[in-house]
Amino acid sequence: MDPRQRLIVALDVSTAAAARKIVAAVGDSAQTYKVGMQLYTAEGPSMVRELVGSGRRVFLDLKYHDIPNTVGAAVREASELGVCMLTVHASGGGKMLRTAVEAAQGKPDLLILAVTVLTSLDDVDLGKIGLRGGVLDQVQRLAALALSNGCKGVVASAQEAPALRGEFGRDFAIVTPGVRLAGSGPHDQARVVTPAEAIAAGASHIVVGRPITEAADPAAEARAILGQISTQYPVASNQ
Ligand code: C5P
Repeated sequence: MDPRQRLIVALDVSTAAAARKIVAAVGDSAQTYKVGMQLYTAEGPSMVRELVGSGRRVFLDLKYHDIPNTVGAAVREASELGVCMLTVHASGGGKMLRTAVEAAQGKPDLLILAVTVLTSLDDVDLGKIGLRGGVLDQVQRLAALALSNGCKGVVASAQEAPALRGEFGRDFAIVTPGVRLAGSGPHDQARVVTPAEAIAAGASHIVVGRPITEAADPAAEARAILGQISTQYPVASNQ
C-alpha cells in the first residue's frame, strides 16, 4: 500500500472554503481526508462529492448508530458518494453491523470501520452506563463483534492497538487518532503518540488533524509524518 494511503488528514473545519485551503496546502502529501460531523453538518454531501471528484479519498466519520435498516440505508448513500471508509458504532449490535457491511457489498473497496469505546470515556463512565469490566474489556468485546460481522477494521487508540493485534491478528485495519510528531503540542488530546509509535503499536492508518491543518507548512508536516510511516510499516503487511 502507498504510505500516503495510511495518512488521513482530518478536515475539522466548518466551511468548504477552509477545507479547500487545507487540501490545496497539503497537495500531494496526502490522499485521504476525514470528513466528520462538523464539516458534513455544515456543508453536506457536496463537500464529499467535491473531494472525491478531485481524486481524493474520503473517510466519512459520521459514526452511524441506529436500527439496522436505517444504518444500512445511510451506508448505501455513503457508498454512492464514493467514500473509501466510514464509521459505525459497534455498540449498535451485530445485526446493525452486518446490515452496514451488506449495504456496502457493491463497493468492495469501502472499509466499514467500527468505533468501539470512545476515548473520552473511562472505566467510571462505562460503569455509569451499566457496563462492567473496564474499557479494554469492552473494546475487545466490541472489536470481536465487529470483525465477526464483517467489518474490516476498527477505530482505536494506540494504547488499545497492541491488544487488538494480539487477539485478532493483522488482517484488519486499525485507524488511530491522537498522533503528534515529537515536539508538537498535544492540543486537547489527553494522550498522544508519534506516527512511528502508533504504527509500532499496530495501527494501519493514522488520523492527524491540527498538527497538519494548523501548521505553517501543512505539506512539510505531512511529509515528515509520511517519512515515519514509510520507515516503520512492515513492507510485507497487506493492511
Ligand atoms: O486535531 P487532531 O489530530 O487531534 O484530530 C484528530 C481527529 O481524530 C479529530 O477529527 C477527532 O475527532 C478524531 N478522533 C479522536 N479521538 C478518537 C476518535 C476520533 O481524536 N478517539
